[in-house]
Amino acid sequence: MAKKTDRKRSDNLINMDAVAFQIRESYKAARTNIVYSIIKKGCKKISFTSANKGEGKTVTSVNVAIALAQQVNTRVLIIDCDLRRPQIHNALSLEPSPGLTNYLNGECEKEEMIRTTKISNLFAVTYGAVPPNPSELLSSSGMQEFVKTVEKDYDYIIFDTPPVGVVVDSLPLVKQSDGVVLVVKHNSTTYPALKKVIDVLNRNGGKILGIIVNNVESVKTKKFGKGGKGYGYEYGYGYGYY
Ligand SMILES: Nc1ncnc2c1ncn2[C@@H]1O[C@H](COP(=O)(O)OP(=O)(O)OP(=O)(O)O)[C@@H](O)[C@H]1O
Ligand SMILES: [Mg+2]
Repeated sequence: MAKKTDRKRSDNLINMDAVAFQIRESYKAARTNIVYSIIKKGCKKISFTSANKGEGKTVTSVNVAIALAQQVNTRVLIIDCDLRRPQIHNALSLEPSPGLTNYLNGECEKEEMIRTTKISNLFAVTYGAVPPNPSELLSSSGMQEFVKTVEKDYDYIIFDTPPVGVVVDSLPLVKQSDGVVLVVKHNSTTYPALKKVIDVLNRNGGKILGIIVNNVESVKTKKFGKGGKGYGYEYGYGYGYY
């Protein structure tokens, strides 16, 4: 298990320097729309989730966090709340510990756990170690207190969470968040799965800010590329504004 979660995927993950122009522009558009929703709703804590695993939650949350941190005087904290398949450390080239599980288990101080990243104004909390009880840790009073204490120090707090359609881990974070961004994988996430997630989020007080459709085949990339499949992002307003 450890091997699987510790595997280096940073090469696969998109970052704002390496990403193709079109994807970067799509992220900017997604950011603009999400920020608009956040400002309109006056929210700062945002959970990223999806129906299933591997739909692009981590890639999307990291890139939106980077985009937010690139705004003037905007401090952003991204927290790896996927304690089953954590990847924020790989995405941001950080050591996994000390991280969230270490802090919640009383093994380190808050200051040791919150790390600077290569991107100025972007701070990160990595997972620490894969625990036997991820759901309990994320719903613990220690976790709630931690979020409350860091709230005043950051303009945005981004939670990268496990898929709502698979495990219940993200629900306490959804409840604490001001808004939820749903990541949908084009030609993969089914309508029934999406509906189920939306129902679960609604029942748990999740305010859906928007839906990011990941892995959209890009018309422009197809046109200018050498026949390869392109990737892009779209931002949907189909749900939300409750
Ligand atoms: N738009 C994209 N373009 C290219 N590759 C992508 C894109 N979105 C995701 N990927 C790749 O797909 C894989 C899954 O993405 P990611 O880790 O973000 O999904 P996830 O929903 O966080 O998965 P998990 O449920 O395991 O946490 C990664 O290898 C990532 O690099
Ligand atoms: Mg992930």
